[in-house]
Amino acid sequence: MDGSTTGRLSGKVALVTGGAQGRRGRKHGFGGATSWAFCAEGARVVIGDIDEENGRATVSDLVGAGFEAQFVHLDVTSREDWERAVNLTAQRYGRVDILASIAGYGDKFDVMEVDDRSFDLNFDRNPRAMFYGIQSVVPEMRRAGGGSIIQMASINGLVGSTSSAAYHAAKGAVRLIVKAAAIQLAPDKIRVNGVFPGYADTVSTNDMWLDPEMREPRLARVPMGELIMAEDVAPAFVYLASDEARWVTGSELVIDGGMTAQ
Ligand SMILES: NC(=O)c1ccc[n+]([C@@H]2O[C@H](COP(=O)([O-])OP(=O)(O)OC[C@H]3O[C@@H](n4cnc5c(N)ncnc54)[C@H](O)[C@@H]3O)[C@@H](O)[C@H]2O)c1
Repeated sequence: MDGSTTGRLSGKVALVTGGAQGRRGRKHGFGGATSWAFCAEGARVVIGDIDEENGRATVSDLVGAGFEAQFVHLDVTSREDWERAVNLTAQRYGRVDILASIAGYGDKFDVMEVDDRSFDLNFDRNPRAMFYGIQSVVPEMRRAGGGSIIQMASINGLVGSTSSAAYHAAKGAVRLIVKAAAIQLAPDKIRVNGVFPGYADTVSTNDMWLDPEMREPRLARVPMGELIMAEDVAPAFVYLASDEARWVTGSELVIDGGMTAQ
């Protein structure tokens, strides 16, 4: 992959949260892979993350490949950070066309184990953060005459399982934020969609999948029988961000090897 000036996102400016895991030659997270895919299609990208070291290194790799990218410290649970990140993006590149709200949090507590801390972490870093994101970028998108907001959900926001009760609830809330915001922002030509990956091998889940007791029973439930990689999901973000999806809003793009078709 190297620098590109034309592409499906040519001229657009994107803010990507949770994009720090995108270093060249290493396994990527969803935000890292999406940042590379956006750049390869001609977008200018601002990565917002709490991991300064990997975020700055990812940006340096992107710039080294000939792309336009910038890092900003963004804790998605902070309204002030969101506002700073959006302002920096607009000041640096003149507009904000795309928000890929990818950073999130999940744990494995079942419905009887969830305590206040688990509840707060799941809800602060998923639906609350996504509200903050929407409220921060919409004024810039209105100024630009429209935009595309893409929220990272999960199949855990569609169906239940034997664990992760607060995560199910939080991603289920993200699913309905997408639909409400899609209707309420449609008059502004701002589209809002959700991406729902299944079991995926990313930086944050790498160690979990090394454990056969975690891996085997889960993969046994996936009709296509394999873990998804971040690069398999990034094209969904590109499509939803692009003008090819100009009439797509409030939708759920599920990428799960058939898991939730059963
Ligand atoms: N990995 C999976 O199996 C899977 C499946 C479906 C959905 N998801 C969702 O995808 C998203 C990304 O997951 P991933 O596995 O690609 O992670 P990842 O490997 O990209 O790591 C998460 C990134 O988010 C950043 N982050 C964490 N808390 C943050 C905060 N408060 N503010 C800003 N950045 C923060 C981390 O620093 C890290 O760079 C999450 O929303 C997750 O719920 C993951």
